[in-house]
Amino acid sequence: MRTIIKNGLVVDPLAGNVAPKDILVVGGKIAEMGANLPLGGARVIDAAGCLVTPGLIDMHVHLREPGFEHKETIYTGSLAAARGGFTAVACMPNTNPVIDNAALVRSIIASAQEAGLVHVYPIGAISRGSRGEVLAEMGDMAAAGAVAFSDDGMPVADAALMRRAMQYAGMLDKPIISHSEEKSLSAGGSMHEGPISTMLGLQGIPASAEEVMGARDIILAEETGCPTHIAHVSTAGSVRLLREAKARGVQVTAEATPHHFTLTHEAAIGYDTATKVNPPLRTADDRAAIRQGLADGTIDVIATDHAPHTAEEKDVEYEKAPFGLVGLETAVGLVWTELVHTGLLTPLQAVTCLTRNPARILGIPKGTLAPGADADITIIDPELEEVVDPAKFVSKSRNTPFAGRRLKGLPRLTMVGGRVVMER
Ligand code: DOR
Repeated sequence: MRTIIKNGLVVDPLAGNVAPKDILVVGGKIAEMGANLPLGGARVIDAAGCLVTPGLIDMHVHLREPGFEHKETIYTGSLAAARGGFTAVACMPNTNPVIDNAALVRSIIASAQEAGLVHVYPIGAISRGSRGEVLAEMGDMAAAGAVAFSDDGMPVADAALMRRAMQYAGMLDKPIISHSEEKSLSAGGSMHEGPISTMLGLQGIPASAEEVMGARDIILAEETGCPTHIAHVSTAGSVRLLREAKARGVQVTAEATPHHFTLTHEAAIGYDTATKVNPPLRTADDRAAIRQGLADGTIDVIATDHAPHTAEEKDVEYEKAPFGLVGLETAVGLVWTELVHTGLLTPLQAVTCLTRNPARILGIPKGTLAPGADADITIIDPELEEVVDPAKFVSKSRNTPFAGRRLKGLPRLTMVGGRVVMER
């Protein structure tokens, strides 16, 4: 089967350029790239006016399987990824049971293959049951295919345990992903601590809850040499810590989510529980610092923290609602609307944050369009507009704070291994 993607502007983060090129796909691989490739009987995909990019990678999603299939499954999460333009996701281990052993890692990979839509890379737990007491079987999980380790959702409170985890992860050449949260500062909070939380009568989560733990994990990363990735950065202080650490040469990387670079704590006025997320939406200054961090490369990755919850679970008092919002199906639209069309990031920078950087951090052979690579390709139409309608989501959950928002710049086609898994 030969397919040719014609007339598009190819964004190649590895070569660092954007150029009009055709891409010939044969047998699931990129066979050739160049100007005006002959059709030779191939099926043609017309990408005129569009960007052709390596398949997008979301390195932070919650697929909820096993244990919480009422929120999402590997299949529905894969559908949502494909609809959002993602060809690969890395899934967090806070399932039930927690993904803390090789058998579970293998079962996630098998279920994802059965779903047959996008690549799913499991992230193994740092500690058994993510209880923060003893280390999980990290070596076994790495051998079974875990790409990183994290107790995401549950911070690792014990510094000695985190230090030991980094020593092991470093030997396994896998990153630790830090959910930086000091529980003694955040416990009981529902939103960012500030004037809005006071006005709403909600207990707050101070910026220091993230920064204290981020600082600890940067110190441990520096000491152990373990590649350490700070998840969902939400505060200006965290961006500053990262900038300083990177300048010193610490092996630290970081991600920001579309909700943190788009919204502020003011979104919680009205008590919409879709705005309740951990870490919380912060101030306009924090949001500006995150945007600046993305622009200057302090923050390497855009990841969604796709965290599905059902309407029943979210339709309760703000304090009682679970943290999290779905992100896979709105991410590209938010990146283009908020960051690219505003001139903050070039298309090449945005695509790098969504492809090459997560691939590099996770050590997966993705994020490039070179001949010989798997034909994982996303076509983005920067001019395509749509109003977010959660009823159209293919995720099992609809907990988005972006309903009704007009987005410009959307994925038009998602190809995984030469097969089209989504076309708008
Ligand atoms: O908002 C969040 N939801 N933050 C997390 O760290 C975990 C996630 C979840 O699993 O729902």
